[in-house]
Formats: sequence, C-alpha cells, structure tokens
Amino acid sequence: MIEPPEEVTPERPGGDGRTPLVELDGVSKYYGNIRALEGVSLEVHAGEITCVLGDNGAGKSTLIKIVSGLHRHDGGDLRIEGESTALASPREALDRGIATVYQDLAVVPLMPVWRNFFLGSEPTRGKGPFRRLDTALMRETTRGELRRMGIDLRDVDQPIGTLSGGERQCVAIARAVYFGAKVLVLDEPTAALGVKQSGVVLKYVAAARDAGLGVVLITHNPHHAYLVGNRFVLLKRGVMAGSHLKDEIALDELTRQMAGGSELEELSHELERAPVPGHLGGHPSD
Ligand SMILES: Nc1ncnc2c1ncn2[C@@H]1O[C@H](COP(=O)(O)OP(=O)(O)OP(=O)(O)O)[C@@H](O)[C@H]1O
Ligand SMILES: [Mg+2]
Repeated sequence: MIEPPEEVTPERPGGDGRTPLVELDGVSKYYGNIRALEGVSLEVHAGEITCVLGDNGAGKSTLIKIVSGLHRHDGGDLRIEGESTALASPREALDRGIATVYQDLAVVPLMPVWRNFFLGSEPTRGKGPFRRLDTALMRETTRGELRRMGIDLRDVDQPIGTLSGGERQCVAIARAVYFGAKVLVLDEPTAALGVKQSGVVLKYVAAARDAGLGVVLITHNPHHAYLVGNRFVLLKRGVMAGSHLKDEIALDELTRQMAGGSELEELSHELERAPVPGHLGGHPSD
C-alpha cells in the first residue's frame, strides 16, 4: 500500500493562484496486482484544456474512470474544487459537474438525436397519470443547442446511429455543455476519425473550453493535443513521464517524448541493421 505524502494545506491553488476544478495529486490505482497508475498528478482549470497523452496501456482510461466516478483510487488524493474526495459513482461525478464522453459513446443508435440528447434527463409535462415526455421541448432545445454551438444537423429526428463518429462526439459535447457541466472529460474523441472530422471535433472541444468548462482531453495524438491544449501530462506504463504547460514545451519535443524519445532511436538503429545474409524473408532467431 502506498501512503500518499502528507499534505500541509488542504487547499492547494494551481500555479497561478487559482484552485483547480479537479486535481489529482499522486494518485494510484491497482487492479489486483497490476499497477495501472502510480503517483499521477494533474490539474484541470476552468477555461483550459488538460491533455493526457500516452501509449496503449499507459493508464489513460483508468485515470478517466477515477475522475468520472467509475473506479475509486487506491492512493493519493482527488480534489474537486479544493475538496478531497472519492467519487462513489458516475452519478455523483455528474452531480458535481463532471461529465464524461466515453470513446464508445453510450448512445442508443436507433433513437433520434433529440432523444439521445436528453437520455436519462427527459423533461416531462403534466402530472400524475397525465405525465408524459415533453417531446416538443426536447426537439426544440436540441435543435437550438446544436445550432448555438455551430453544429449543423440536417434533422434532429434522424437516428443518432446515422451520424458520423465526429458528429456524435459533437452532440455529446453540446449535451454536456447544455446540462451545465463544469468539467468535460473526453476519452480519445478523435481516435477513430480522419483529419477533417478530427478538426471539427477539436473545434467543439475548444468551444467547450471557451464556454468556461475545464476539459480533460485524452489522446494518442500530440498534434491534436498541441492544437488545443494548455497543459500536457504524459503517462508511460502508469507513471508520469512528463507534465508541461504549453509555453514550456514545443510540439517537436512533445512528439518526441510521446514517441518514447530514446526508445524510438533504439528502434530506428535496430531497423537500420543490415539483414543477415541468407536470412532474407525469414524470422531473425533473436
Ligand atoms: N479492469 C481491469 N482489470 C485489470 N487490469 C486492467 C483493467 N483495466 C485496465 N487494466 C490494465 O491497466 C493498465 C492501464 O490500462 P488503461 O486502459 O488505463 O490504458 P490506456 O492508456 O487507456 O490504453 P489504451 O490507449 O489502449 O486505451 C493496462 O495494463 C491494462 O491492462
Ligand atoms: Mg484507453
């Protein structure tokens, strides 16, 4: 069991004196004997984007699950607006203003866009046995909110399954903004998208930031991170491999660190080695 370091002050402001919306301080998470995270720290501020970068298995999704209330951390401290907390459920995270958009997007593909927009929070009208869903309000609000964020959908009645992956991410972001999230957590929103669609999604991520939300953006892609990010946290096999403010690091350096710097150089040497005569096309015996 890892003991978190003693905190002297319960409320620790960020570097510029503001208390972060969300702060991880030396957080660890184990799945049985598997160390998924150890000693990870980051800050999320209003009107900023904190990017979490790392390769497969680095612990990015685990980190998100702690912030979104799916998993409890085993060590370290999670603070929400300065208050030390352990989130018991995604509902509790949501009640505290933390909205998460998962990569697989929990949507019902055959339901219209407006139904998905209000899924789990449907407004009703009438009382008692006359109570029913206020479909007109849901349609109108969805249409208005999407338009307000600059999302141009042909028709809010079309099944959400007919939207592209990028459009679905955009609807999910608009939904979090509409329902008053303070913190928006996005797990690899551009992972499955082409260049153009990635650009559109990043535009809405930036719009959420400009609306004053604190955003956590998980990504493999340092170029996407660098376009919109204010802070960059690099994870490698569950531990922090770097933490930088945008003006402390250039894109080249971020990319190099992300790619594993020296490991990549080693790999390039290995790949440059001349093939062994007589073994062309065969497997090196190693
Ligand atoms: N429920 C679980 N039970 C056991 N081990 C797990 C569980 N979830 C994740 N792990 C392990 O924890 C480590 C971190 O996994 P995680 O999913 O957080 O990585 P990731 O950075 O999101 O990877 P990817 O880029 O592939 O999504 C991995 O070694 C993974 O095998
Ligand atoms: Mg993941």
